Amino acid sequence: MTEILSHIDAGVMTLTFNRVDKKNSITAAMYTALADAVEQAAHNSEVRVLVFQGHETVFCAGNDIADFLNNPPSTPDAPVFRLLKNIAAFPKPMLAAVAGPAVGIGTTLLFHCDLVYAGDNAAFAMPFVNLGICPEAASSLLAPQMMGYHRAAEALLLGEPFMAEAALEVGLVNRVLPPTEVNSYVQVQARKLAAKPLSSLLETKRLMKAGQAALVQKQMNDEAASFGRMLTEPAAKEAFGAFMEKRKPDFSKL
Ligand code: COA
Repeated sequence: MTEILSHIDAGVMTLTFNRVDKKNSITAAMYTALADAVEQAAHNSEVRVLVFQGHETVFCAGNDIADFLNNPPSTPDAPVFRLLKNIAAFPKPMLAAVAGPAVGIGTTLLFHCDLVYAGDNAAFAMPFVNLGICPEAASSLLAPQMMGYHRAAEALLLGEPFMAEAALEVGLVNRVLPPTEVNSYVQVQARKLAAKPLSSLLETKRLMKAGQAALVQKQMNDEAASFGRMLTEPAAKEAFGAFMEKRKPDFSKL
């Protein structure tokens, strides 16, 4: 599929969000392609490192809202949940190059990446409450851990965006660069990793994540059950309807 580009070079598989006209929002078909690619990357011995990247103007605007309404992820094996499970369990180094908006899963997938580099135009947002739904990707666990509870509450309860410098300060990103340089810098870092002994990388990552792998899985399952249910409820219907009609949502009775 052309909306998700995949290529392997020098041990690095790069997955590119390539739907810039819709701000790289992700449809169910794109989730399937991504979930398959991540699964393949885990098993393919040619792949030592995985990179996610977007465009210098936009990383990813989260779920494609129209597609979400038509194909709501109502079961645990829905493409979005399959991708999240694959990302959380991905054993090899995983990097992201983020420039421009990173909304919803555009931000939450970063909690599972090992290294994240951002353009100074990066804007991170997790507006689940504003959409009448709840967090996913274990972000309800990982955001408070990584950012501290109060900053996570600002991001998850208020749904307020935060910029690259704030993300750097809380440790969500490793370094901030000019937007035009992010993708190439991440390739440099990925190639450094790809030249290292894979067995040591795998074991080190496993050990760093071992303490809470089961907790992350449990949290993702809890979130997925709530997320699927909340999508069918009035608050989400109002929020998604308002987005489609390009108006402000009215939650006054909800
Ligand atoms: N789903 C579907 N379409 C989306 C989208 C999404 N998540 N995000 C953007 N688009 C579409 C817009 O509808 C618009 O389409 P159109 O040209 O046919 O009208 C196009 O992408 C450009 O978006 P626009 O809002 O005009 O760009 P912007 O630069 O002003 O703002 C964003 C960019 C990402 C900040 C803004 O689009 C946004 O907030 N999107 C929604 C994010 C969201 O809530 N995602 C769900 C998370 S679970």
